[in-house]
Amino acid sequence: MKQVKTIRLNFDKTDTLVLIDEKFSFFTRFVSGLPIFITDDNVNRIWGKNWEGYPVIEIKSGEKIKNVETVVEIYRQLLHYHVDRSWFIVGIGGGVVCDITGFVAGTFLRGLRFGFIPTTLLAQCDAAIGGKNGVNFEGHKNIIGTFNQPDFILCDPVFLTSLPKDETANGFAEIVKHALIADDSLFSLIEQHVSDICTLQPDIISALTMKSINIKSTVVMADEHDLGERLKLNFGHTFGHAIESVTGLSHGKAISIGMMLAMEISIKKGFLKDDTFLHVKSLLMQLGLPVSLRTDHSKIKEAIIKDKKRQEQKIHFVLLSGIGRTIIEQLSLEEMNRFLDQSAII
Ligand SMILES: NC(=O)c1ccc[n+]([C@@H]2O[C@H](COP(=O)([O-])OP(=O)(O)OC[C@H]3O[C@@H](n4cnc5c(N)ncnc54)[C@H](O)[C@@H]3O)[C@@H](O)[C@H]2O)c1
Ligand SMILES: [Zn+2]
Repeated sequence: MKQVKTIRLNFDKTDTLVLIDEKFSFFTRFVSGLPIFITDDNVNRIWGKNWEGYPVIEIKSGEKIKNVETVVEIYRQLLHYHVDRSWFIVGIGGGVVCDITGFVAGTFLRGLRFGFIPTTLLAQCDAAIGGKNGVNFEGHKNIIGTFNQPDFILCDPVFLTSLPKDETANGFAEIVKHALIADDSLFSLIEQHVSDICTLQPDIISALTMKSINIKSTVVMADEHDLGERLKLNFGHTFGHAIESVTGLSHGKAISIGMMLAMEISIKKGFLKDDTFLHVKSLLMQLGLPVSLRTDHSKIKEAIIKDKKRQEQKIHFVLLSGIGRTIIEQLSLEEMNRFLDQSAII
């Protein structure tokens, strides 16, 4: 086991301790209260022996169950276990479990203490960090939610050993996103180690996790409540969320295509060079991510209009002016529709 790395994140109401390369079995050190687990059926089936003897709330898996009905079902179970404020919720699973757990913990009894043990690469590098906890409602992604920071986030790489290949690629998409919005040296690191990354060599995955968490947490700490700086984390996500809702493609893959579209707009606007675009495209492909999609534009347009970030007739888009450099631009709906109709990607 490698040396444990810790990062302390300071937020308005809570400090979060992030542990990278920590063993799951040490989780009790960070739990202040009676632990109860929330996990999904896959994670529980594969890893459940590790939390035998503790109360466990198992939910189904996948984006489809990230909704209010699941939240209500968890509330029922918390009542069943007579959970009071002396309990501590541990969310163990991918981004879906983390998002739901954070929301439940923020609302049940007006807030219980909680921690995350993210088990997908995407959740370790991204979803578990930042305290945005949301569920989907009537086709609107993450439209109901809270800002609520966990006490700890424990990343144990052992969980990644059971992750299907397809799921690891989803994590790569968010890591590339972090490089593109903030750190050209991370981009180079990924390029230099593509084959080791694809086979999940522990040293490089640990380095990427650390860098990714640093980038995301720096942005989040500067703008915990999403009033400005944090917007850049949405790079690729306006299109990505729409693609995810319409096609059912997984989050990371939808974001990969969303980033391609955002880069295509960046070129059209004169911010980004063609060769940077091709460079990124090649890396995404090497990481097993999709870079184009055949789908019905009208549905994507409708989904974008539904997007919660729409402001009047304009949409904030995060564009790129180079690797590690973003520009926020407002695009009118007409401009966006025209762009989608002419896109070579979608
Ligand atoms: N809150 C945020 O800031 C934030 C950021 C990024 C993404 N997200 C959200 O995260 C979600 C995507 O997260 P995800 O990609 O982790 O998806 P997920 O939680 O759906 O997990 C993907 C699949 O992998 C399975 N799984 C999880 N851990 C496993 C393991 N160790 N071994 C085998 N299978 C395992 C799950 O059961 C599921 O089937 C989306 O809902 C997205 O909106 C939130
Ligand atoms: Zn994302």
